[in-house]
Amino acid sequence: MRVGVDYYPEHWEESRWQIDARLMREAGISVVRLAEFSWCKMEPEEGKYDFGWLDRALEVLYKEGIQAVLGTPTATPPAWLHQRYDIYPRDARRYPLGFGTRLQRCLNHPVMRRYSRLITEAMVSHYANHPAVIGWQTDNEFEANLCYCDVCADLFRQWLQRKYGSLEALNKAWGTVFWSQEYSSWSQIPLPWVARCGQSHNPSLWLDYRRFASESTVSFQREQVEIIRRLAPHHFITHNFMGLHDSMDYFALAEDLDFVSWDNYPKGNWEEAGHAALAHDVMRGIKGKNFWVMEEQSGITGWEHVGRRPAPGQIRAWAWQAVAHGADAVVFFRWRSCLYGTEQYWHGILNHDGVPRRRYREVSRFGEEMNRLSAELDGTTPNHQVAILNSYEQNWALQIQPQVNGLRWWDQVRRYYHSFRRLGAGVDIVSIETDLKRYRLIAVPSWYILTERDTHRLTDYVREGGILILSPRTGVKDERNVCRTEPLPSLLREAAGVEVDDYDPLGDAQNRIRLSTGEEFTVSVWADALLLKGAEEVAVYTHSIFAGEPAIARHRYGKGVVYTFGTYGEPALYNTLLGRILDEARVERLAGIPADVDACWREKDGTRILFLINLSGEERAVPVPSEVTPLLGAPPQQGAVNLPPYEVGIYRVR
Ligand code: GLA
Ligand code: ZN
Repeated sequence: MRVGVDYYPEHWEESRWQIDARLMREAGISVVRLAEFSWCKMEPEEGKYDFGWLDRALEVLYKEGIQAVLGTPTATPPAWLHQRYDIYPRDARRYPLGFGTRLQRCLNHPVMRRYSRLITEAMVSHYANHPAVIGWQTDNEFEANLCYCDVCADLFRQWLQRKYGSLEALNKAWGTVFWSQEYSSWSQIPLPWVARCGQSHNPSLWLDYRRFASESTVSFQREQVEIIRRLAPHHFITHNFMGLHDSMDYFALAEDLDFVSWDNYPKGNWEEAGHAALAHDVMRGIKGKNFWVMEEQSGITGWEHVGRRPAPGQIRAWAWQAVAHGADAVVFFRWRSCLYGTEQYWHGILNHDGVPRRRYREVSRFGEEMNRLSAELDGTTPNHQVAILNSYEQNWALQIQPQVNGLRWWDQVRRYYHSFRRLGAGVDIVSIETDLKRYRLIAVPSWYILTERDTHRLTDYVREGGILILSPRTGVKDERNVCRTEPLPSLLREAAGVEVDDYDPLGDAQNRIRLSTGEEFTVSVWADALLLKGAEEVAVYTHSIFAGEPAIARHRYGKGVVYTFGTYGEPALYNTLLGRILDEARVERLAGIPADVDACWREKDGTRILFLINLSGEERAVPVPSEVTPLLGAPPQQGAVNLPPYEVGIYRVR
């Protein structure tokens, strides 16, 4: 377990470094991330490297017992490189991004690739055996390389050629006969853009371009990873992911890395409040193991406009929340608010004046606690019986054709996630390629693109006793993003014991359903009218065109059960029905947790650590199992603990 900070020594006078390093040590900080934007300092002229300043900074830090994760600086190529070569990414109108912000490079451009390898090699050779350096961060916050430059257009066409072999096969796969789009030469194939009549390019072309753009970023990263593995095999390699960001396939990006890190700004000016728990679980699910937070909010956020100050205690609560969800390190962004540049108002632990104040004291408190509990927490990890499947391909296909409000991937994940958590069940959010049999219950948002392989994975899981929840719009397409001809849910209809007889895309409109147990709920987004083909009815529509027809069904299949949800309901529907399904699946739950308290387990060898994080500004009474040893916070009295605002309780449970 480690506490760290993102540090930019190049922004400050060298005479200040010693004070910073001492203050860091006193706050319990033992790791810094450095250098990810300092290409112009490390290579001020082409081929002339200068690591002197970074060596001196590392020395000052190391003397205070602080180690370093170094970032490759390829998110901000220097001006001299851009002056010599045009490596700017193009937007859909082929307008170059230009110099002066960041990410102004096309990751496919051979010149960018070459200079990326050169700076990575220079850095890694220089630091491979430096005692302070423990690992690497590739670039910074990668996105899919959705670029429209000539290089990308050429490479995309080559990619298509490898994939389809012939134009005949491509024309057939995409159905280019529609609107007279049959291609007779590879060079005719466009990059899809948001066109005059909307995002109206062929959905098959779109999906392949999204796949290509994502793979481009993965292959860019791979070149850096190969260099680091070759020159510094004893160092770890990670990257700072962005939580619910979904332009690229995070599973693929993480394959080459040792573990995932991510940047958590619960109150950042673009983030949605309250999503941190979900984002932590999504990030843990990418490699199915513990992760780091590489940037954890430590102050007021903002570029041109600023956010609110985190409430006293909130920074510490967020940090413990990260650990509760599986973070093994929390690295705060950033050490001190910068005096210049775009992020002048993205506040760090220290203000511009550099004087340790309240936020420094709050981080120090967390640092002291984390270091004290380190031995207890090392090697522990969350371990859950419920999973929600995550897929970037499904997500992109729904971005390409959102169909109605409310069908977006994370909207769907959220409905299941928040309800499971409300009901006291911990959740893993995983790829369909993980070992599904570990789980007693799996909820699947619209598995819109359904392959034979995925069908087998899901049906095997149910046959052997798993409980599966399917959502509307399952099995609509094949992997080409072409509609299937089988009745929906196409390849899964036998396992589901239902067929979709008709559907009504509700969007924001509403209908009502009644459970067989009598309760009624409002539904929206989508309504499938189900035909029962072996399944039993769980709910019927009570209004409108489908009144009296099944909306939710349950089917025994092999040793397991498939629930088909033909519609999306208000939260109360899930809190009722998912509660019953959790019981049917014999999922262990923490009962009676208030909605704004995040309760999580980490465990190791039968020992469990319970985390209770009060995310609200009011006191909350939380039930605690008997026989607990308090590790942090007050001991429970009569089976409950009173958590003051933003307070944290950590307990060892036998
Ligand atoms: C991201 C980046 C950082 C910084 C912060 C704050 O997470 O990785 O470099 O820009 O946002 O804006
Ligand atoms: Zn490009």
